[in-house]
Amino acid sequence: MGRFAVIGAGTMGSGIAQVAARAGFDVVLRDVAPEYLDRGLTTIAASLDRDVKKERLTPAQKDEILARIHPTTELAAVKDAEIVVEAIVENFAAKAALFSELDALTRPEAILATNTSSISITKIGAVTKRPTQVIGMHFMNPVPVMPLVEVIRGRATSDATTNAILELGAKLGKTCLIANDFPGFVSNRILMPMLNEAMFALYEGVATREAIDGIMKLGMNHPMGPLTLADFIGLDVCLAILDVLYEGFGDPKYRACPLLRQYVAAGWLGRKTGRGFYEY
Ligand code: 3HC
Repeated sequence: MGRFAVIGAGTMGSGIAQVAARAGFDVVLRDVAPEYLDRGLTTIAASLDRDVKKERLTPAQKDEILARIHPTTELAAVKDAEIVVEAIVENFAAKAALFSELDALTRPEAILATNTSSISITKIGAVTKRPTQVIGMHFMNPVPVMPLVEVIRGRATSDATTNAILELGAKLGKTCLIANDFPGFVSNRILMPMLNEAMFALYEGVATREAIDGIMKLGMNHPMGPLTLADFIGLDVCLAILDVLYEGFGDPKYRACPLLRQYVAAGWLGRKTGRGFYEY
């Protein structure tokens, strides 16, 4: 695969663009406003600087990687891409509108991938005329560090598309593992109930936030405690995923903790807003 496009220059989109450019791809990075692109490029430069400091990249290599990323606000700039990875807001209507535009705009053989963390790949594919070429590529945050891409096959996704994405993932230096298209796929179906349970433990006064996180970190060897991780992911994102699980399975075990709902209503969305379960 040659030309690579990423739609959305937020945390995930900029991370995906960085990994692709580092693997040697030319990357079109599209967002709706120049300030979002600037923020994304600043994040990428800071992340590459860590590797320069650790002498895993030379300053010249860093510049070459940055030069392979082509920021744009024009959606039409993705028209020659062979693979488009969407990483916009986690909202079905927004993704559906974008995929229908991408379907009209891109070459017929292009693969349209989504980094959605919980929206149905089958539903996204169905808004296009190429559902066999629509697939989930669920990267993990922080994208440059985490080795996994969860590859999600929609009902209609073809073997050829899946194989092309497995090949691409390997070129990006990631391990791809395949899941089928059910709510939360594998990663969030298992992760979110654990984070939710930690929130219930806090809500019910079982322990302090520090104790809950410390017990899971030191006792289970998790890199971050569950409340710290929820703040890192974003509490709005956690709530949206839990709601997808709750609605998709109709099972009360996925009911979001009322404390989470209240924090989101208060605008305490975690690290990105300076306050969540912790203050930043
Ligand atoms: N860019 C590049 N490198 C980065 C980085 C970034 N943004 N953030 C951290 N790193 C690198 C550091 O340079 C360091 O590299 P080194 O060990 O090779 O020198 C390494 O990662 C460790 O970083 P730090 O020493 O600064 O900090 P930690 O040891 O605390 O690690 C962490 C930070 C990697 C974020 C670790 O805490 C962690 O793995 N946390 C859990 C992350 C996780 O679970 N992510 C998945 C979230 S769920 C998700 O994304 C799915 C969605 O659908 C919700």
